[in-house]
Amino acid sequence: MTIFEQRESNIRAYSRVYPVTFKTAKNARQIDENGKEYIDFFAGAGVLNFGHNNPLMIKAMVDYLQSDGVLHSLDMQTTAKAEFMQAFTDVILKPRGMKHKMQFMGPTGTNAVEAAMKLARRATGRTDILAFSKGFHGMTLGALAATANQYFRGAAGVPLNHVTHAAFGCEKPCMNCVQGCGLANLKALRARYLDPSSGLQAPAAILLETIQAEGGVNVASKEWIQNLASFAKELGAVLIIDDIQVGCGRTGNYFSFEDLGIEPDIICLAKGIGGAGTPLAMNLVSPELDKHWSPGEHTGTFRGQSLSFVAGKVALDYFRNEDLMEQVFIQADAVKSAIQPLLDSDNSLQLRGKGMIFGLDVGDGERAAAIVQTCFKKGLIIAACGTGGRVLKIIPPLTIPQEDLISGLTILTDAVRNVMEEAA
Ligand SMILES: Cc1ncc(COP(=O)(O)O)c(C=O)c1O
Repeated sequence: MTIFEQRESNIRAYSRVYPVTFKTAKNARQIDENGKEYIDFFAGAGVLNFGHNNPLMIKAMVDYLQSDGVLHSLDMQTTAKAEFMQAFTDVILKPRGMKHKMQFMGPTGTNAVEAAMKLARRATGRTDILAFSKGFHGMTLGALAATANQYFRGAAGVPLNHVTHAAFGCEKPCMNCVQGCGLANLKALRARYLDPSSGLQAPAAILLETIQAEGGVNVASKEWIQNLASFAKELGAVLIIDDIQVGCGRTGNYFSFEDLGIEPDIICLAKGIGGAGTPLAMNLVSPELDKHWSPGEHTGTFRGQSLSFVAGKVALDYFRNEDLMEQVFIQADAVKSAIQPLLDSDNSLQLRGKGMIFGLDVGDGERAAAIVQTCFKKGLIIAACGTGGRVLKIIPPLTIPQEDLISGLTILTDAVRNVMEEAA
């Protein structure tokens, strides 16, 4: 038995799906202790947008360590933090005319969502949050209340209150969709909120992902999101976009909503913002809302981690020109071309996605799990997500070399074909 089987909590999950011990990693490859290489189509669930051990980031972090740079500072001012904040202002905020303040909190996505919900409640004096079916926002109680998946909710041990879930407005209806999505639902919901006798109270915030990553790569329709944004204004609710998994360049723009014509009041970022894989979370908060915080009210020991600031600043260099973002669309075309023959030969499959996040819905969790295992044996790390785990999520580092992308896609398409044929 390995030390993991002997001593690690029963909670361990991914280590059961990929039961080898990884020793090293480089860009889009992870290498196990026996020297076997795996192409990574998972990228730490959206953390490693710029690859494993990105050499530019490693150099910056090693230089920082060797120069006795401050490693921990609570939320005191440090050179590393100042340089990150300046770069973020110059490269991301100013070119987009965004006046948002940067709020750092404990370095996980769930903590960013907690802070956003808290601030929205504080600013509006309301309690309820409107969130959506299949949404995923984290595991701490506030964010968990907004997360839809019953498996995770069931572990809470206390009632998860003060969140209303409505149907998400998908661009393409999912296969076997039972809820019906989109504008019709939103119109009905609007009518209920505006009816003083409906029993519904106006929400403090509307919280959503523009692409539900864990929920099965469900891409929201532009029209639905725009209607939702004006609905938030009409209700006086704070619009929170959780860009934790699909921000930081994943969709071919820095933010996932840049082509949607909306102006969120709060944007939650984590995962990829630290660049190299060390943790960092940050909310972008409109200045009017930010006035509602008092110093230290949402405190935490690790509010901004220095190595993440150093590597995160290097990551921002990728957004000083269009090279990487153009690459995203080239890679996305390669994914679509590789998957298209599968879709042509099997109409029970569906591909959804935007930029460089795709979900291949195979309609059934057992089939998806078999595909994940077949891929893993052949040297590809890919994860399943969505209802019952029936969607294969393709989310490699954005820096993946073309050869690795093509090799990974060959492994994936062969595995899908074999498993689907066996199931037929
Ligand atoms: C959209 C979204 N929000 C929040 C979270 C929670 O982030 P963390 O696991 O860092 O707490 C995740 C994690 O997958 C996520 O995908």
